[in-house]
Amino acid sequence: MNKVKWAVLGCGRIAGKFAADLQLVQDAELFAVASRDIEKAKHFALQYPAKHVYGSYEELVRNTEIDVIYVATPHSHHHEHTLICLRHNKAVLCEKAFAINGAQVREMVTEARNRKLFLMEAMWTKFLPHYNKVRSMIADGKLGELQSIQVNFGFLPPQPPAQRIFDPALGGGTLLDIGIYNVFLVQSILGKPDHIQAIMKRASSGVDEQLAVQFQYNNGIVAQLLSSFTSNLQTDANIAGNSGRIRLTSRFYEPSATIEYYPERVDSIQIIPIEKQAGWGYHHQIRHVQECLRQGLTESPVMTHKDSLGLMETMDSIRREVGLKYPADC
Ligand SMILES: NC(=O)c1ccc[n+]([C@@H]2O[C@H](COP(=O)([O-])OP(=O)(O)OC[C@H]3O[C@@H](n4cnc5c(N)ncnc54)[C@H](OP(=O)(O)O)[C@@H]3O)[C@@H](O)[C@H]2O)c1
Repeated sequence: MNKVKWAVLGCGRIAGKFAADLQLVQDAELFAVASRDIEKAKHFALQYPAKHVYGSYEELVRNTEIDVIYVATPHSHHHEHTLICLRHNKAVLCEKAFAINGAQVREMVTEARNRKLFLMEAMWTKFLPHYNKVRSMIADGKLGELQSIQVNFGFLPPQPPAQRIFDPALGGGTLLDIGIYNVFLVQSILGKPDHIQAIMKRASSGVDEQLAVQFQYNNGIVAQLLSSFTSNLQTDANIAGNSGRIRLTSRFYEPSATIEYYPERVDSIQIIPIEKQAGWGYHHQIRHVQECLRQGLTESPVMTHKDSLGLMETMDSIRREVGLKYPADC
């Protein structure tokens, strides 16, 4: 079987981790890398060898041998970079947040569908074994009827912080960067909320440096979501039902998380075993994308376009609640 020829667009921090995990996938090959700076691309390719090394994204997308491009630029550029790839007939796996707003996501999805090309948001948590175990425990009734979810994600960015963290032009703020994992977790279990309340603490740049969100559902279920760049939080999640509770320990969205299960009475605890694997955990989604490509699919059945749009629409609603706008909204 031929190896899937991957390309990396943007040689930043997450691109390095992704490229490292690509090496764990047998039938995957890092075929090309591109940076806006050729020296940076060459340096990246020293660590993660690639056959083709480009000093611009435009050159990369013109390579006709590439099977799929991984877009690893800031959220503000996902829309533009995904469209460039699609318009050069490339399948795309694009980092989260998929774009800045729902309008951009709709345009990306329409372009992919019109061209019959594969497009998926790299919401890697959805492919992790511990997340799937939680889903199956809930489906098996281990928690009874769900009542509430509390989830938090917070850290103090290293000083000086990376520019994209607080810059509105780069889609900065907690929501699109880390709060998205909170929204993803809650929404993938409970669906889109019926009512949203939110408050934020605004950074001097104008973006949210702390954000507290409450989801209400018409059946009485509630969820509380907190994201912060102003304090180190537990970054854990509690999913509670009327006959049990699951706590995902820090960091709830990564494979390092442990599942603590508290059946009925909170003083008894079971640790649910999950096999730990080598790597950062990105190989699960990489294998899934390859499987989709080999089957000729243009949309993942696991992380669907509807899932990505739903995630972004909810984040748009949260931003409306707190009055947070980006240049791309205008
Ligand atoms: N899945 C995960 O676990 C995870 C973790 C962290 C981040 N992410 C996501 O991945 C994306 C990138 O995050 P990162 O932490 O890797 O960021 P980063 O280190 O700043 O890298 C982003 C790269 O994008 C490229 N780029 C293109 N236009 C840019 C611009 N105008 N300003 C800055 N960079 C630009 C640059 O690559 P060149 O200079 O090489 O062109 C830069 O190195 C974000 O959307 C983030 O949410 C995902």
